[in-house]
Amino acid sequence: MVYQRIKVESLTPTIGATVFNVDLADLDDETVAEIHHAWMQHLVLFFRDQRLTPAEHLAFGARFGELHTHPAADFAGENPALMAIHTDKDSKRNNGGGWHTDVSADAEPPLGTLVHLHQLPTEGGDTLFANMYAAFETLSPTLQYFLTTLSAEHMLDYNSLYGREGHRENPRAVHPVVRTHPVTGRNALFVNPGFTRRIEGLSPAESDVLLGFLFKHAAQPRFQCRFQWTPDALAMWDDRCTWHMAIWDYFPETRSGLRVTIKGDRPRFDAESFGVRPASS
Ligand code: SIN
Repeated sequence: MVYQRIKVESLTPTIGATVFNVDLADLDDETVAEIHHAWMQHLVLFFRDQRLTPAEHLAFGARFGELHTHPAADFAGENPALMAIHTDKDSKRNNGGGWHTDVSADAEPPLGTLVHLHQLPTEGGDTLFANMYAAFETLSPTLQYFLTTLSAEHMLDYNSLYGREGHRENPRAVHPVVRTHPVTGRNALFVNPGFTRRIEGLSPAESDVLLGFLFKHAAQPRFQCRFQWTPDALAMWDDRCTWHMAIWDYFPETRSGLRVTIKGDRPRFDAESFGVRPASS
């Protein structure tokens, strides 16, 4: 696509791009269509110097679908779709600090996430992203085929993470191990260390070995990019085909902002999309 409104510069050949010439608080439909096209191509987009209010952040997210509410995290302000991203000297843990795909334990996990950071440490606090299409496509055809026949259980004990009890839920869902992206039609590995607990139909030992291999394979640097935040930068990622991880290397400083997620559909694998068969068949 030749972009008329925006300028897009890849961060790596595999994942990530920075978008220029855009004010996210003031978008016409053509610009949103170009952003969506770039998003589907690069999986994670970065926008710098976006002085968005929380309402403008929510409105930008709503250009891509209905907004999602986190099943357990506190709301930031009044709107349940707005979640605080905050780590400081009193934090016991770093939100998002391990490879994961946002809320994949939901029956319909978010399709994408938009994080806008306002306050940053003097150094550090980067976020890593990994391409799960590439993770899947670089496996042998025989293993790819086997994975397309499997489902996995995703869950997380959110109550123990967020502390307070009451309105909180700990979602649990079973999803295909390989997911066909509803927009691009490409297949992505859809398991992650943060939420995926076991592969159905395998013994615990078999499941542990296979998930351990997949987590190690998918975490290779060749599938990744790394974003160094600046104040008022916004990152948007596609949760259907990526992992991410926020690095907590800035204690006792503060890193703070807001997150908006967009509702997704139930993950499915489309056999028609998959041309590869095992070597022996
Ligand atoms: C998240 O996992 O949603 C947070 C990512 C970040 O803080 O960089």
